[in-house]
Amino acid sequence: QGNMEINEQGQLEIAGHNLVDIAEEYGSPLYILDEEEIRTNCRAYREAFEKFYPNSMTLYASKAFLSLAMARIIDQEGLGLDVVSGGELYTALKANVAADKIYFHGNNKTLEELDMALEAEINAFVVDNRYELDMLNQMAGKKDMIADILIRVTPGIEAHTHSYIQTGQTDSKFGLGIQNGLALEAIKEAKELENINLKGIHCHIGSQIFKLESFAKAVDVMLEFVEDVKEEAGVILEELNLGGGIGIPYTDAEEKPDIEEYAKIVAESITAKCEELDIPLPKVINEPGRSIIATAGSTLYTVGSIKEIPGIRKYVAVDGGMTDNIRPALYEAEYEAILVNKADQAEEELVTITGKCCESGDILIRDIQLPQAEAGDLLLISCTGAYGYSMSSNYNGITRPGVLLLSENSIDWAVKPQSYEDLIANDVVAERLK
Ligand code: LLP
Repeated sequence: QGNMEINEQGQLEIAGHNLVDIAEEYGSPLYILDEEEIRTNCRAYREAFEKFYPNSMTLYASKAFLSLAMARIIDQEGLGLDVVSGGELYTALKANVAADKIYFHGNNKTLEELDMALEAEINAFVVDNRYELDMLNQMAGKKDMIADILIRVTPGIEAHTHSYIQTGQTDSKFGLGIQNGLALEAIKEAKELENINLKGIHCHIGSQIFKLESFAKAVDVMLEFVEDVKEEAGVILEELNLGGGIGIPYTDAEEKPDIEEYAKIVAESITAKCEELDIPLPKVINEPGRSIIATAGSTLYTVGSIKEIPGIRKYVAVDGGMTDNIRPALYEAEYEAILVNKADQAEEELVTITGKCCESGDILIRDIQLPQAEAGDLLLISCTGAYGYSMSSNYNGITRPGVLLLSENSIDWAVKPQSYEDLIANDVVAERLK
């Protein structure tokens, strides 16, 4: 992970800030973001595509983590944003992201969300289904507008990843199939609709993908479809959006796919396939989420109770858990951790890190080798930047931790911690219950 170091006192630092001091001042649990790492990852995408395929644009997939400050950083780094709800769109607009850098996804956008995005004049809707297509056409018609769209298709590719985060296969709640003809039908319809301008197609084959050849496979299927569409519907699709999905190593066992290599493979397969099919080179969009933010984030906890079940297991409990990181419970996701204040000590015992929720599945790390832990120690779980905060909950009345943004010269809240007042802010007690 990014800019981490162990200082002379054997304590862990991120971006030059001692985490023991940070915990003292800002409390725990706490999400920590390393700003430089976010910017480095953004630049890696921008520079790699500028080098291998300049007619392209990288959008950050907001669902991995979005806040006003995050949107500002993404905007400053020259990336666009992919949003999937009115809430994400609202956040992006409030952060002054230009509407023409925003793409809107989702398999069931509400009419209110479509209306909001039309009013904002976003770059394009990634239309998931025929209902959405018709609604959007009608709504744009009433406003005397033309809605720019991509059609989301499923290329029939099963990427090697957890089944919950696979999305490219034909049996999916997302998109319209290429193989079963549904995508072509939608394109023929879109072509006839007066208030729709069809710019291209989109696919997302899954998330946490390590085999870069999967993307080359997707390119081939997508471009063959572009050729079919040209033949069968007389439509030239100018934009090809390949979604996100590049994996990141959560543990030492995995190796980080190289972003430059990804861009090169995508560029080469597009160029070769377009030549073979004799079709024009499309504008290429990609939408990384995890590979921008995961390694920039970590979660700082304080150790509380420690329970040894003789001969079986030692449980080390921390002051957060599945409420701030649902991924281990949901996907059996694995993480690494370090005792911040004992970062230079030998890892001498095998423990299980649990959270504080009333749920046996609330285990953050099963079996990890750590220095002897005691109550009051600080534990950092790394690589929690993606889908940690964004999938957090208030289960058990646990407040959401704040998100602290660290850079070399400053420490700022990106999101303040929730308070107990925040927790009941929307509660209502009707008069008759008083
Ligand atoms: N574009 C589309 C259309 C997507 O559906 C997604 C992720 C992305 C881009 C970004 O994918 P990424 O680069 O982050 O892999 N909650 C799960 C991940 C769900 C991903 C859903 N879609 C997790 O925690 O692993």
